[in-house]
Amino acid sequence: MYLGLQKYKENFGDVYKLCFGPKSFMVVSDPQILRHILRENVFNYDKGVLGEVLEDVMGKGLIPADFETWKVRRRAIVPGFHKAWLDFQVTEFGRAGQLLVQKLKEAEAEGKTVDMEERFGSVALDIISKSVFNYEFGSVEGESPVVKAAIQSLREVEHRAQTPFQYWKLPLMDVLVERQREFKENMVLLNGALNKCIVQALSDRKEADLDELENRDYSKMENPSLLRFLVDMRGEATDGKQLRDDMITMLIAGHETTASALTWALFELEQNPALMKKVQTEIDEVMGDRECPTHEDVKRMEMVRLCFAESLRMYPEPPLLIRRALEEDMLPAGATGKETKVLRGMDFFVSIYNLQRDEKYWPNANTFDPERFKRKYVNPDIPGWAGYDPEKWKGQLYPTETASDYAMLPFGAGPRKCVGDAFAMLEGSVALAMVLRNFDFEFAAPTAQPSEVGTCTGATIHARNGLWMRPRARR
Ligand code: HEM
Repeated sequence: MYLGLQKYKENFGDVYKLCFGPKSFMVVSDPQILRHILRENVFNYDKGVLGEVLEDVMGKGLIPADFETWKVRRRAIVPGFHKAWLDFQVTEFGRAGQLLVQKLKEAEAEGKTVDMEERFGSVALDIISKSVFNYEFGSVEGESPVVKAAIQSLREVEHRAQTPFQYWKLPLMDVLVERQREFKENMVLLNGALNKCIVQALSDRKEADLDELENRDYSKMENPSLLRFLVDMRGEATDGKQLRDDMITMLIAGHETTASALTWALFELEQNPALMKKVQTEIDEVMGDRECPTHEDVKRMEMVRLCFAESLRMYPEPPLLIRRALEEDMLPAGATGKETKVLRGMDFFVSIYNLQRDEKYWPNANTFDPERFKRKYVNPDIPGWAGYDPEKWKGQLYPTETASDYAMLPFGAGPRKCVGDAFAMLEGSVALAMVLRNFDFEFAAPTAQPSEVGTCTGATIHARNGLWMRPRARR
């Protein structure tokens, strides 16, 4: 889908209308228009079709939530991602990374090849479930029915997002259609696991003020999860259904996104030995003999972070954002040279993929070049676009949207920007550093050639045939 939109962009430019039968979408990928939709006039654009598609899975979780629910929940959830908790999470990422390294060592000893997309997916699933609601999926070790249910419910979200007619809303579909029947069963299983965690957290609730919560020693807690934080926050309404919606939303939002970014970073690095060497040298210098990086190490491993960020530029997860105009509006001209009138109810595809692969903003856009983020870039042909300036993200983990004046939005932008951006950057950097510190890789059958890896889209950009590699220990 996202590749089709890129082809149309070549013919029709940065703003065009796409029709599927009676439905139509405005496709936009101009930084000045995106700044308008995602920040300046954000409350005029809700999630539209996405809310309808995600309803049965995420309920009123942050991603699909209407603005009224969103305001309350966002205010509750954001403080959960505070520094002390993120510091603690880095050690947890290290623990999960060690298990992954162990599994890769076993594969090497047995002469086996490994699907790295699947491996990164398992490690990300284990991390997110433990961090967010203190549940041990154990998917790196093997597949359990709950893991299967979590993965299949994600596949159903992708299926629904790509199906123009919402047939699952018709009566009896969950009885007559096999995939809908299975989806219902999977949701029962997954909700059962989530509800158990919620009931447990509610039963030993210890009310605390925000300050107290932010200063807890998470390493000494039995349940150091985000759920614990949300339940314990003084004055918070702790309705079980809303908590379930919040938990499942984060499980889905924070799992395959990170895994895909890791997959594509490894895919690209493997084709560029000089760059790989540079990254591994940085890792060796910063980590020395330590097996797991600290939060400080991640800050010092700039190349590792930039590789993760460059992977997100080339393979944005998700490649499209969806919006619907609540009222009439006027979009700024941007590079198109003329303003666009927006009618009430108009649906939008915000093509992050088109934006981040656009040569106007990213010269050699199809080349994996993490060091581009160290160089300033301006394009005098585009009035109103300030260009990319590395000085503007100093002290932060990745090149933010303001550094590129909205030409790169790996975590979205404005008030509805990803709440897990720092979490994901830390998690991805820890995993990448640990894997590359311990192993060299080579492409292996059935994806012995990079061209055999292929892409396909769901909510994220998947490797169509997996990313099969042979690990070789470096130490
Ligand atoms: C929203 C990307 C990891 C939780 C978003 C959005 C993007 C995004 C682009 C904006 C969606 C929109 O505007 O329609 C990513 C990427 C990740 C990642 C690329 C990993 C590399 C995570 C993690 C969590 C998370 C780890 C949770 C722990 C959320 C939530 C929202 C969100 C709750 C909705 C925010 C709101 O509407 O207020 N993410 N995300 N994400 N993400 Fe992430």
